[in-house]
Amino acid sequence: MENQRSLGKPQIRLPERPEEIDQDAEYCSVLLDGEWVDIRFHDYDRIYRIHGLYEQLFHEILDCRSPDVIAKLLKEQLQRDGYDAEGLRVLDLGAGNGLVGEQLRTIGVGHLVGADIIPEAAEAARRERPEVYDAYHVGDVTAPSEETAAALAAAKFNTMVCVAALGYADIPPSAFRAAFNLVSDGGWIAFTIKDRFLTDEDTSGFAGLIKTCQDNGVLEVRATERYRHRLNISGEPLHYVAVVGTKHADIPAEFL
Ligand SMILES: C[S@@+](CC[C@H](N)C(=O)[O-])C[C@H]1O[C@@H](n2cnc3c(N)ncnc32)[C@H](O)[C@@H]1O
Repeated sequence: MENQRSLGKPQIRLPERPEEIDQDAEYCSVLLDGEWVDIRFHDYDRIYRIHGLYEQLFHEILDCRSPDVIAKLLKEQLQRDGYDAEGLRVLDLGAGNGLVGEQLRTIGVGHLVGADIIPEAAEAARRERPEVYDAYHVGDVTAPSEETAAALAAAKFNTMVCVAALGYADIPPSAFRAAFNLVSDGGWIAFTIKDRFLTDEDTSGFAGLIKTCQDNGVLEVRATERYRHRLNISGEPLHYVAVVGTKHADIPAEFL
């Protein structure tokens, strides 16, 4: 196990020839117990086990802005409607170690529940940000245990937030739909997604799903912002789109 073996701030090296490595295959080397170990960016379980590695890698070195951007865009829309963030009951899907939750608390969110598919995310959130979530569920939201399903329904969410977790091998459209459908009609939907996943070149399934939801009045998009999510390992910008909208109805199964 790699649990917190790095003392102080984790020491990280990026690959020397990063040009040919796609975002999906990015990795870094981390100094653990005197040895350089390669870790893929998508191996979140390994990353979350090492205290501070996620922040050091994605936020300090690669300058990730997504949690700030979505919180700011959501706050602006709340202010436009004169809506107090204290009244939000948020499901943070793909919550990771709580960086998004932390920003949501900063804008004044009242009730906040995290959900992630790997236990290491929940453990890291509890260890590193114990005050942020009122509850945190581990598992697949498309097939929750009876206990989790009951807790999610009882939470009466009026907002779903999902940041930097849609597409690739992460959250598929079916899980987005399951979380979306836990939010009451009239509630807020806020997410960020790689810009390409909203274009004709999309292979993730999200471009079609979001457009179908908009065309059928299921989701009313209120604000979008294309922004630099982070740098890639070559130092080039990766652009994402932040979307904030209003849910008007559940997403039916046939939209998938
Ligand atoms: C890049 S991280 C983003 C974490 C956090 N949202 C942030 O912005 O700091 C993606 C997260 O999505 C989670 N994830 C991947 N597939 C998932 C799924 N099907 N359901 C819930 N979470 C998932 C991963 O475990 C990981 O914690």
